[in-house]
Amino acid sequence: MSIYQATASAPVNIAVIKYWGKRDTKLILPTNSSLSVTLDQDHLRSTTTSRADASFERDQLWLNGKEDEIKPGGRLATCIAEMKRLRKETVEDKNPEEPKISDYKVHIASYNNFPTAAGLASSASGFAALVASLAHLYSLPASPSVLSAIARQGSGSACRSLFGGFVAWDMGTQPNGSDSLARQVAPQSHWPEMHALICVVSDAKKGTSSTSGMQRTVETSALLQHRIAHVVPERMESISNAILQKDFDTFARITMKDSNQFHAVALDTEPPIFYMNDVSRAIIALVVEYNRLSVEKGQGYKAAYTYDAGPNAVIYALEENVKEVVQLVVSYFPQKPEEFKDVLGLFGERGSLD
Ligand code: PMV
Repeated sequence: MSIYQATASAPVNIAVIKYWGKRDTKLILPTNSSLSVTLDQDHLRSTTTSRADASFERDQLWLNGKEDEIKPGGRLATCIAEMKRLRKETVEDKNPEEPKISDYKVHIASYNNFPTAAGLASSASGFAALVASLAHLYSLPASPSVLSAIARQGSGSACRSLFGGFVAWDMGTQPNGSDSLARQVAPQSHWPEMHALICVVSDAKKGTSSTSGMQRTVETSALLQHRIAHVVPERMESISNAILQKDFDTFARITMKDSNQFHAVALDTEPPIFYMNDVSRAIIALVVEYNRLSVEKGQGYKAAYTYDAGPNAVIYALEENVKEVVQLVVSYFPQKPEEFKDVLGLFGERGSLD
């Protein structure tokens, strides 16, 4: 008797041009393109095992050992249904000898090795790992870009975790989302000196989920409309060029400006949303002053902060400056130095999903 089971893991990605706003909430189509760096070390990953079996009575999912409901028509259900459809259309219908496992129910177990929903993009790695494990289970010939369109329907930012290195998510223009896909701008090997330092300011669950926050922002923020039309398109191009040219100064300036604008847009929402706290803001002040002194000495920018929908800081820095940045942060925030993790490294190509 055959056993149909597969495991895959996917890392978190941290956006430097933020996705915030949906133009289609069902298909998860964004109001602007975004760009991120996929982290690749053991600290921030989701690992997911999927199994299909004729004896299973319903699709079931466990997150960190606890069963999570798969709501009919919800995002989990959509991703699972889309993966079954791909299996049927691209494997079983084309080759009648292949077992019809798309008819079987699946059991899925997923683990995050970091706090869930604390603004550390757990949904990104979670849905990417889910889609990757089902892709293995179903032996799909699909490219990461095709899989990104399915992961996107679980959580928008998840589409970027299907690729390693520096990854863009093009917003696309098609109403059916066929061109709203992730693509690799450059592999990690292009700029291996790039590190990301995660400063866990709080691992409490975030107050306003990205889904409800985005919806409120789309409905009420005039600043978001300005950002969509006049800011992001140019930034996408400039930061892509900065990455290709390994220009850290430009990368850092745009990264920090974009984080600031995302949080300004959150504040411009009615009622306002605050994701950063006093410690987050103190880290910003520290990085700004550190860069100012460094530029004054003719050494250029040395660090770039960015914050997602939570208070935790991610600081990008080049290898040669990482030690100094860690020392600086730990000397100002000495309480829990063990929580500052250097999670450099990126994810290889799709093969490393195995
Ligand atoms: O994919 P979601 O719904 O978790 O939204 C993520 C939004 C941000 O993390 C704040 C920005 C981004 O581009 O990752």
